[in-house]
Amino acid sequence: MLRLEKVFRVYASGDHPIEALRQISLELPPRSFLAVQGKSGSGKSTLLNILGCLDRPTSGTYCVDGQNTEDISDDGLAALRSQKFGFIFQSFNLLNRFNALENVMLPYIYSPDPPADYKAIAHQMLERVGLGSRSQHLPGELSGGQQQRVAIARALVNSPDVILADEPTGALDSQSSREIVDLLAQLNIEGKTVIIVTHDGEIAAQCSSVVTLADGQVVDLRGTLVPDQDPKVVATL
Ligand SMILES: Nc1ncnc2c1ncn2[C@@H]1O[C@H](COP(=O)(O)OP(=O)(O)OP(=O)(O)O)[C@@H](O)[C@H]1O
Ligand SMILES: [Mg+2]
Repeated sequence: MLRLEKVFRVYASGDHPIEALRQISLELPPRSFLAVQGKSGSGKSTLLNILGCLDRPTSGTYCVDGQNTEDISDDGLAALRSQKFGFIFQSFNLLNRFNALENVMLPYIYSPDPPADYKAIAHQMLERVGLGSRSQHLPGELSGGQQQRVAIARALVNSPDVILADEPTGALDSQSSREIVDLLAQLNIEGKTVIIVTHDGEIAAQCSSVVTLADGQVVDLRGTLVPDQDPKVVATL
């Protein structure tokens, strides 16, 4: 369960602080499949970064499975992040000098206690995204859709409960986009919470719930989400 209560994120920027998020209160039950929509600059990436513990609220509280992140040290938050969340970005963020398998194994470098069979797990994840035969290919030798699937495999190696995807199809053609969204939908069916920032209404329509931001505030909520006024109430699917 992910729960934001009256979250503000203010960027200090010269004389004019920027309120990137203003009083966001949302509760996401396990297995949520959420789209985040809104114009450029509305706060979508800022929200995703806070949900994924890459950043902290300036004020308000963010609880992950009942634990207030304010009470967690920076090291503890980094550990929670690597164990609970998997990230996917528009630009794939693969390392070009490493092949697909090596890219998928990267999270183990940051893991204090990698499993003995980590290479086999990484290979399984590549197979899971349909790229078992491409493990030795460099990113430059793969299509955009294939590169994004490598990034998804990398996001899966630590068995995260939550996948956070910031415009994962923004750099892809429509066929590859569909494949990526189908893969994310399948991961949701298998039990993961999936949160997708997208400008694409068709993709948002495939999600169970949609939150729309404008100027850092929630202006529309559909599906499982909780209105700003009453963060304790959770509507169910
Ligand atoms: N590190 C930062 N320092 C100062 N201001 C920032 C920073 N990051 C974001 N902002 C500002 O916060 C607001 C929200 O930015 P954010 O990146 O969350 O928007 P977004 O909805 O993801 O936009 P896009 O669709 O263009 O990716 C914007 O006004 C942006 O300029
Ligand atoms: Mg963004």
